[in-house]
Amino acid sequence: MIITSSVDGVRQEVRRLQREGARVGFVPTMGALHAGHLTLVEEARRAGATRVVASVFVNPTQFGPGEDLDAYPRDPEGDAEKLRSVGTDVLFLPPVAVMYPPGAETRVTLERLPQHLCGLSRPHHFGGVATVVTGLLNVVGPDLAVFGEKDFQQLQVVRRLVRDLHMPVQVVGGPIVREADGLAMSSRNAYLSPSERARAVCLHQALTDAAEAVAAGERGAAALEAAMRSRCAAAGGEVEYAVVVDPDTLDALSEVGPSGARALLAVRFGRTRLIDNAPLRPPDGARAARP
Ligand code: PAJ
Repeated sequence: MIITSSVDGVRQEVRRLQREGARVGFVPTMGALHAGHLTLVEEARRAGATRVVASVFVNPTQFGPGEDLDAYPRDPEGDAEKLRSVGTDVLFLPPVAVMYPPGAETRVTLERLPQHLCGLSRPHHFGGVATVVTGLLNVVGPDLAVFGEKDFQQLQVVRRLVRDLHMPVQVVGGPIVREADGLAMSSRNAYLSPSERARAVCLHQALTDAAEAVAAGERGAAALEAAMRSRCAAAGGEVEYAVVVDPDTLDALSEVGPSGARALLAVRFGRTRLIDNAPLRPPDGARAARP
């Protein structure tokens, strides 16, 4: 695995691989890697990448004032080892001054998608994500890039910006990887106390209940949302949102239509904010029965 922290270093390597006929996949991360991140490397290959570039960069512009930028877990050596073990070809480890050259003042913003869900409590977050993802895609120049469905709103923001800015890259979504009890893997799970960790499984339970309710015939978004909210509140979580939305626009829905919806949750346990989501799909029979 080649490790580089310069723009020219990663660019030259990717160009060389592409000249040799490789299809290059890219997995951007902020490090402190767990199995969820590592499956994105496999997902890149499944989507057709023959070589994989990963990046580890804790992006300051996507953290708001008072958020966990300084406390964010960092383990560059461990990350390199894990990425090597899953066959990553190139690791890009840029310092802040490489991604944001002194005097950098350009920001990528989206008008509407960030006005939902996580964007409401984290107003600067998606501008920071869109800016760094645009920069990383411009530096690496991959054929495809993989983003986890764990951060569903982020995945939609990236899909939208790639489409709107005509960026020549295929965006691939990777499935959510979970702990044995269902908690979605996250670098932030490390912040949970043992009691919070035990109760944090409520997010997955609430989503599973919602999916089962839809399979059993429930279509009303308000009823599904109220059930998810009370499940998480009963576990002592402070619910920031519990919603059923259109999977593409993230607009609120009054009911789950024949083509399905997405349920998304953000719940705080103490100072730790957890997010999770799941598709809601009416059974095929119900879909076929509707016009
Ligand atoms: P980070 O939180 O490190 O996540 C990197 C990638 O891993 C993201 O695409 C995220 O959705 C995915 N991921 C995290 N946990 C996952 C899980 N349990 N299952 C599947 N995929 C999971 O997301 C970011 O970094 C940053 O915002 C970034 C896109 C790198 C821009 O700075």
